[in-house]
Amino acid sequence: MTLLLPLEDHFARPGEPLAGAFAERNLFPWIQRRTRPLEDGPAIAARLLAERRPGKRVAYLHIPFCANHCLFCGFYRNRSAEDSMAEYARRLEHDIAMDQAAASGPPIQAVYFGGGTPSALAAADLGRLISAVRRHLPLAPDCEITIEGRVAGFDDDKVDACLEAGANRFSIGVQTFDTGLRQRMGRKATRHEAIAFMERLRDRDRAVVVCDLIFGLPDQSMEMWGDDVMTCLSLGLDGVDLYCLTLHDKSPLALSIAKGSLPPAAGLDRMAAMYGAGLEMLDDAGWRHLNQAHWASATRERNLYNQLVKAGADCLAFGAGAGGLVAGHRYVIQPDVELYGKTIDAGTKPITVVLPPPANRPARDLVMGGLEGGRLDIARLESLTAPGFAAAIEPLLAQWAAAGLVNRRATAVTLTPAGWFWHCNLVGSLFELTDLFMDGGTASAAPSLPPSEGMRYVG
Ligand SMILES: C[S@@+](CC[C@H](N)C(=O)[O-])C[C@H]1O[C@@H](n2cnc3c(N)ncnc32)[C@H](O)[C@@H]1O
Ligand code: SF4
Repeated sequence: MTLLLPLEDHFARPGEPLAGAFAERNLFPWIQRRTRPLEDGPAIAARLLAERRPGKRVAYLHIPFCANHCLFCGFYRNRSAEDSMAEYARRLEHDIAMDQAAASGPPIQAVYFGGGTPSALAAADLGRLISAVRRHLPLAPDCEITIEGRVAGFDDDKVDACLEAGANRFSIGVQTFDTGLRQRMGRKATRHEAIAFMERLRDRDRAVVVCDLIFGLPDQSMEMWGDDVMTCLSLGLDGVDLYCLTLHDKSPLALSIAKGSLPPAAGLDRMAAMYGAGLEMLDDAGWRHLNQAHWASATRERNLYNQLVKAGADCLAFGAGAGGLVAGHRYVIQPDVELYGKTIDAGTKPITVVLPPPANRPARDLVMGGLEGGRLDIARLESLTAPGFAAAIEPLLAQWAAAGLVNRRATAVTLTPAGWFWHCNLVGSLFELTDLFMDGGTASAAPSLPPSEGMRYVG
């Protein structure tokens, strides 16, 4: 098949690749705006979940409670309160225990307790939920079990309860170690407390410890950012995430900036420079770059959940607002905590929105999973599209290489530091060109879900 594709629309701009390859970042290339949810979606998802299919599976459990709404965050749903969290934990345990389909499929390779704030739950509830997952779901023997948390409120009893029940990975949102900036963003612990907490976790040496940092916050200087990364390096942790600030519309941060009580967030130039500086420091220190935002210092850090989800593995969802994926269909569990609880009490899993798989899903999964990990196998991409696709996109790959975004390998491309920063743009371009090529020139509609649907695919 030969087909002319509008490759020039996707060319990078000449000049400084890290700061200026494109006019803006394509933040969520996998969210397309046109597809409607399936009318009988919940029944379709329930049927697909009950079918036994080969392939790797992961599980996501959502804890939609937080002590407060941090200014930058788009994930906040409910304020934590002891009684409602205890009742929620009881219902979540029931959700896990009654899921016959989840219990009978292929092994589950990774389990992620995310939020919200799992560490806001009581120690006994954390222990019970992790135990329930291990008792009722067919976990792989080396299953990665992650608990997401924050420093404030994550006491030693809770950490012990998680470890005793079998958690083997903690992902801790530090965001920044700068006390003043932390507190302006709604974080309660000081630098000293955050460091002491991470040291205590590290010194137990019983689980992988990962630290989340955000760059581009208002008032965050290059020096503060350098210190954040350096502090992380000096703590001897197993992994780190460097997240570029997403300024969510209507977030407390966007509102504070709009009314002038905080200065603007960093612009694209500054974001790029911060990412580049962080990448260089971690690379210099010998950390492995596992995906766009994630580095590991130790072999025991695999980042398995994120890697499998990005490559399109089935994701079983539990809890109010959790997002799942089954045979390429994205689905969302009822986000209202009360409604979720009542439906679970009645013995039914409250699946709400379900979207059909995108067009050309195997090729998309390869592009997404591959570029997320820094390498895309072009020969394999051709095998998942149609003969002639590699030749059709060859001038684009050559242009990206000349612009400093990718390196050419025998049958693949790998990302340069600038390519890592712009990887979502490259993913979006290849999605669009794949659809055009396969449709013989007409872009196809693909599923959409607003990022606010509580979907937690991105760690
Ligand atoms: C779902 S949040 C939960 C984290 C945990 N509750 C906490 O408070 O640290 C997971 C991570 O997403 C990142 N994150 C949240 N909002 C973000 C934003 N607006 N831009 C970039 N990263 C963000 C943070 O680094 C955070 O640790
Ligand atoms: S950063 Fe964590 S604690 Fe803060 S609002 Fe978001 S999910 Fe909740």
